[in-house]
Amino acid sequence: MTNPIAIKVGADATGPLLEVSVEELVAADVAAAIAAKSSETPPGDLVPVWVDHPEKADGNLDEAMSGVGYRARRDLWKLEVGLPPIGGFAAAEGVAVRSFVINADEEAWVEVNNRAFAWHREQGGWTVEQVAEREAEDWFDADGFLIHELDGDIAGFCWTKIHDEEEPPAGEIYVIGVDPAHHGKGLGRAMTVAGLESIHSRGFSRAILYVDADNTPAARLYETLGFTVETVRRLYS
Ligand SMILES: CC(C)(COP(=O)(O)OP(=O)(O)OC[C@H]1O[C@@H](n2cnc3c(N)ncnc32)[C@H](O)[C@@H]1OP(=O)(O)O)[C@@H](O)C(=O)NCCC(=O)NCCS
Repeated sequence: MTNPIAIKVGADATGPLLEVSVEELVAADVAAAIAAKSSETPPGDLVPVWVDHPEKADGNLDEAMSGVGYRARRDLWKLEVGLPPIGGFAAAEGVAVRSFVINADEEAWVEVNNRAFAWHREQGGWTVEQVAEREAEDWFDADGFLIHELDGDIAGFCWTKIHDEEEPPAGEIYVIGVDPAHHGKGLGRAMTVAGLESIHSRGFSRAILYVDADNTPAARLYETLGFTVETVRRLYS
């Protein structure tokens, strides 16, 4: 008999990783299937698993996962908004932006990014080499990577990414950040709205982004622009 619970086996920088969407599946069955898949996946320890829609499982998934040795570690939200956002694009007016310049901006951008995301698991500690890898991707578009400067330094940025494979197609706010020296002055809102305007100007009426559920400043900002949670992704390990 084939297993009706489709668990994807992948990997990230730290090793193997499982992924499953559990909408309307029985929590105990999901936990048992994950434990079984984990046990057949090297190196034999519990393999971390990202679960989509854990709140839509039939039964308490956290409890069921705890029964097979897993604990919930992190919630990531996929948010979406129809464009234009609440308030339109007015918040971007008066905040000058320019496109990212390849072979010129990498080092300065990495410094600001790493200050803004010093606390973040994946987005902090970036290198120029990681930026170069993204620049080589098909989707990279310097014109959708917006930079705001103050006194000649990068003070904020909004890097967008187009997803033709999304249904309906959408533009993503891929990375947005403000130098901590300039937090709380309205730049984060202006840069997010500038990114949304850029996505809209390329013909998209929907935007998405991913945010950690415990990133209160960012989540609050997105909420005020009309973003709503499309998917909860929960990491168990
Ligand atoms: C999120 C971030 C971009 C906000 O930038 P900012 O310039 O400080 O934000 P703004 O001054 O434009 O504030 C915009 C809104 O964000 C929310 N906000 C900002 N700081 C907040 C805080 N400390 N607590 C709660 N809400 C906050 C508010 O809704 C605020 O609107 P308001 O001023 O009308 O109340 C900034 O904190 C940052 O760079 N964080 C690190 C990188 C990051 O987390 N990026 C998002 C990843 S998805």
